[in-house]
Amino acid sequence: MTTTIAIASGKGGVGKTTIAVNLSLALTKQNKNTLLLDADLGMANSHILLGINPKFSLEDFVLGSKSLDDVINTTSDKLRFVSGGSAINHLLNLSDLERHKIIQNFGNVKNKPETMIIDVGAGAESSSLTFMASADKVIVVITAEPTSFIDAYGLIKTAFLDHKMENFGVIVNMAHSQIQAKLNFDKFRAITQKFLDVNLNFIGGVSSSQRIKTSIIRRKPIMSGNSDKSPDIEAFLNMATNLNTLATNKTGTIKFFEN
Ligand SMILES: Nc1ncnc2c1ncn2[C@@H]1O[C@H](COP(=O)(O)OP(=O)(O)O)[C@@H](O)[C@H]1O
Ligand SMILES: [Mg+2]
Repeated sequence: MTTTIAIASGKGGVGKTTIAVNLSLALTKQNKNTLLLDADLGMANSHILLGINPKFSLEDFVLGSKSLDDVINTTSDKLRFVSGGSAINHLLNLSDLERHKIIQNFGNVKNKPETMIIDVGAGAESSSLTFMASADKVIVVITAEPTSFIDAYGLIKTAFLDHKMENFGVIVNMAHSQIQAKLNFDKFRAITQKFLDVNLNFIGGVSSSQRIKTSIIRRKPIMSGNSDKSPDIEAFLNMATNLNTLATNKTGTIKFFEN
């Protein structure tokens, strides 16, 4: 059985890709068969963070020249990965039909992952929402900034009202400390639950860290290779464990893996 987890955000630049990549690597470190799908098609850049130059991407699958199995890359950390392709391409304007082709075909992948992490585009665009609704679980990444709160609230509202999604994990990025991350989450939950009947679950916090910044420039994620016991690394391992506490959404739409 595969559990799919969409990583979403209200606004861009909050660290969604950084979290999707490092969380996927944390799961791999915990010996979980993990697949990372870069579905942020307008801004596909997971491959840049991972430091790999994939030969084939989702674009080759959508255009019909490759199967999904053909476009799965494996990183040196044994993470399997489907690139969203380059930023300036056809996939910017993915049709409903093409999105459904992607979602439906994951069921045919040969080596089914235990967990699939999906980096979806920022905001409440229909492509992001389709991928979110087709995943079993959803995590919304926020930062302490008011703009992030407002945009994340807007995303959750649309997901709840239009797609009947009611369970959301939350990761607070660029926090000063773990305590502050939890306080920010409490604040965000209080605001959201005042108006919407949804469940928000704290998955964890990621500190604003020079090491994470440097890892992006060096194209080597902090969870890649032999990692030490630093707080940043522990935070990602804890979040990977906490994914089990997140409830599944029953949306009535087609799912990536009809288990
Ligand atoms: N925890 C962090 N600490 C320091 N810088 C971060 C952190 N997370 C993200 N960043 C910075 O924010 C930028 C955007 O992150 P990214 O993961 O690409 O965001 P998104 O996918 O949401 O657009 C990165 O290039 C990096 O410089
Ligand atoms: Mg991104």
